[in-house]
Amino acid sequence: MDEERPDSGVWLAALASRYSVGPKHLAEPGPTPEELAQAASVSLRAPDHGGLRPFRFVHIAASQRAALGELFATGARERGLDGADVERARERAFNGPALLALIGCWQPGHPEVPLREQLLCAGAGLMNLLNALHLMGYGAKTLSGASVDDPAVSRAFCGESEQLLCWVVCGRPQRAAHPRYPAAPAAPLSDWSGPVLG
Ligand SMILES: Cc1cc2nc3c(=O)[nH]c(=O)nc-3n(C[C@H](O)[C@H](O)[C@H](O)COP(=O)(O)O)c2cc1C
Repeated sequence: MDEERPDSGVWLAALASRYSVGPKHLAEPGPTPEELAQAASVSLRAPDHGGLRPFRFVHIAASQRAALGELFATGARERGLDGADVERARERAFNGPALLALIGCWQPGHPEVPLREQLLCAGAGLMNLLNALHLMGYGAKTLSGASVDDPAVSRAFCGESEQLLCWVVCGRPQRAAHPRYPAAPAAPLSDWSGPVLG
C-alpha cells in the first residue's frame, strides 16, 4: 500500500500553492462540464456528519448570464443605485469563463447535526472544489457581494431551507497566482496549555 503512494510532498506543495485568482485575470477556456462535475464530486469528500450533503453547486451557463445580470441590475436599483453602478452590478454576472453558485441546504433543528456542522461541511466542500480546480490547472475565486443577500437572486437559486452562500468564478489563470495577504508568521497550530484550574 505504502509503496503505491505518491510522495506526499508533491501533493502538499500543490495544495499549498493555491491562491485565489480574480475574474480580471481569468480567461477562456473555463472547465468543461466534465471537469466541473469532477470538481463537484471531489467537494463531496468534505466531512459530512450524517451524510446530509448540506451544499450544492449550480453552474450558470453562458446563455444564462444575461438573465442573471438582469437580476443583479434590478437588485442594485432596488438598493438605490443608478447609472454606472447598476451596470457594474449587471456586469458581475459575466465574471469569469465559468460561474458557479454555492447553495447551503440546511436542516435546521437536525437532532444530531447542528447548523454549525452543516456550515463547516459546506465550507469544506467549497475548499475541496477550489483545490480540485487548482489541481486541474484552473484559477478560481470565491466572491459574494450584495447579490448574495438579494431576495430575488436567492429565490432564483434556492428552495426551502436553502441559502445562497457565494459565487465561484473559474478559468485559465492569466498571471501567476500569488498571496493576497502577508504570509502568516506561523501555522495556526499550538499545543494546548491545559484548562485554567480555579
Ligand atoms: C464565502 C466567501 C465570500 C467571499 N467574497 C469575497 C468578495 O466578495 N470579494 C473579495 O474580494 N473576496 C471575497 N472572498 C475572499 C476571496 O475569495 C479570497 O479567499 C481572498 O481574497 C484571499 O485569497 P486566497 O484565497 O488566495 O487566500 C470571499 C471568500 C469567501 C470564503
